[in-house]
Amino acid sequence: MTDIFDDRRYLVPFRSALLPQLFADVLVIGSGVAGLRAALAAAEQGREVVVLSKRDAATSSTAWAQGGIAAAVDEADDPDQHVADTLEAGAGLCDREMVEMLCREGPGEIDRLVEWGMRFDRDASGAPMLGREGGHHRSRILHTDGAATGAALASTMIDRVRGTDSIRLFEECTAIDLLTMDNDPGSPVIGVLTHHPTHGLQVIWTAAVVLAGGGAGRLFRETTNPRTSTGDAMAMAWRAGASIVDAEFVQFHPTTLYVAGSVRALLSEAVRGEGASIVDRRGRPIMAGVHPMGDLAPRDVVSARITEVLAESGEPCVFVDATRISGGFANRFPGLASRLAEFDVDPATTPIPVHPAAHYTIGGVQVDADGASRVPGLFACGEVSATGVHGANRLASNSLLEGLVFGARAGRAAAECDDAGRRPRLLAEAPPRRAGELDLVDVRASLRSAMWRNVGIERDGEKLQDALEMIDFWGRYCLDKTFDDVEGWEIQGMIAAARLIVRGALARTESRGTHRRRDHPDPDPAARVRYGWVRGRETPVRIPVAVDAAEADPLPNRGRKVPS
Ligand code: FAD
Ligand code: SIN
Repeated sequence: MTDIFDDRRYLVPFRSALLPQLFADVLVIGSGVAGLRAALAAAEQGREVVVLSKRDAATSSTAWAQGGIAAAVDEADDPDQHVADTLEAGAGLCDREMVEMLCREGPGEIDRLVEWGMRFDRDASGAPMLGREGGHHRSRILHTDGAATGAALASTMIDRVRGTDSIRLFEECTAIDLLTMDNDPGSPVIGVLTHHPTHGLQVIWTAAVVLAGGGAGRLFRETTNPRTSTGDAMAMAWRAGASIVDAEFVQFHPTTLYVAGSVRALLSEAVRGEGASIVDRRGRPIMAGVHPMGDLAPRDVVSARITEVLAESGEPCVFVDATRISGGFANRFPGLASRLAEFDVDPATTPIPVHPAAHYTIGGVQVDADGASRVPGLFACGEVSATGVHGANRLASNSLLEGLVFGARAGRAAAECDDAGRRPRLLAEAPPRRAGELDLVDVRASLRSAMWRNVGIERDGEKLQDALEMIDFWGRYCLDKTFDDVEGWEIQGMIAAARLIVRGALARTESRGTHRRRDHPDPDPAARVRYGWVRGRETPVRIPVAVDAAEADPLPNRGRKVPS
């Protein structure tokens, strides 16, 4: 039987000859930290670069980042300690070589940002003020205006890109599909089909594509992510024949604001880094005796503990008690204080109601140290990529750093590509499909609810199987249609990305890092491999992880109550 998920190649039937055509040496999909860094690196190699952004350039997870950027810049710190913390959080699945690259090349990227005008919070002596977050044994998080780091980072990098003549930034321009030679999945990438609200469909031919389209947090009803994080880039890469790894690992942030009517705004872990504590309704600390790092335990541990407390109490939320932060909450976190004031919450006197939400997509396109995927000419960096640096659970504030380090590497490698011999022999029309007439709002809401209910923090085989059946059902009638707007293509990508996550979660019959199965509550040493998925294969490819004596397997029942 033909599988609609494997069969589907392009979302829109088209003939390239009939469309406006553009050319770029390197085409970058995404204007977050990873895409902008890649674009700047490729431009430095003398390449003409186009950057696409689905909305305005500053709508991205990057611009929403709060806590900051982790890097061993302090004299008392050491990249090796950063490596050790990253490996420990990663629960036995990190790729050590990649982690070392991240932590050693990170400080140089910070210097670069400062050269470009990035302003970090500093003390009276001019030294950067360093915050602390879950899983870090030292204070090493650089931040701006308390917890408004992402906005400053995005504007610094966007200004830099706008000031670079060889980079063109196309806003409100959605990438729909990657075009490959002879339309074959796995053949070299030769261009991208795009859509712009006034210019319509167009083809951009290129020697190299850098996918930097961010994560897929919007697949879940409860999420910290912006509207752009719908997993388009993961789905597009899958259709073009890339391998997707670690799909089952979705990081849930423990503390998002839980106030009826508010968006699920993040309450940065940096707040706990300054001494706040998570408490239940009666004010009892819930992390005491759960993990040696207490409130600053890795995120998977804290989210699981909150879930356990909520299940026991039947309450909808727990609270962050920030009433004793030295120097006062509003001084250290002015942006968060004014957001809370909108909901009449004064953190100086009142514990803040919070709840976990989907936050970071660890899985994505399998890449090497230069961002190269298995599809020639296709690179990936940032949240859509799976470099192996995060293992089964990302260490806090490592992802902006990853976007910088591996974005630069991917941009430089993409600049080396040339398109000799990749003449487009395009493009036979795809078979006609039924016009899309669906209540897309309803499909989107149903998918996001099912993902939250069945594929959330606590998982089990039965619920995952139910989710897979629902997704397959929606896939059968949604993927078979041709839409002519971003809303429709986005839903098709969401369904494909969700299916990858659920299949990964079903295949991993153990609990490790962010992936927790009630029916398999402990880590399984035999499952200390990464699972990779490619089109047309029913079962995952097992990718070995270098086993290192320094990286202990996670404890059985990691994160559950242990005797204090
Ligand atoms: P993004 O920044 O998400 O950018 C993706 C880009 O791709 C956007 O420009 C989008 O428009 C574009 N795009 C997507 N699909 C398409 C398409 N089809 N066509 C064209 N363009 C497309 N990490 C930290 O390290 N420190 C923090 O303090 C921190 N705080 C966070 C706070 C919040 C609220 C959130 C949501 C995340 C936070 N993270 C943090 C995670 C971090 O922000 C992200 O992992 C990181 O910014 C991802 O960068 P990126 O460049 O890969 O993707
Ligand atoms: C936070 O500020 O808590 C988010 C940091 C991150 O996701 O890395």
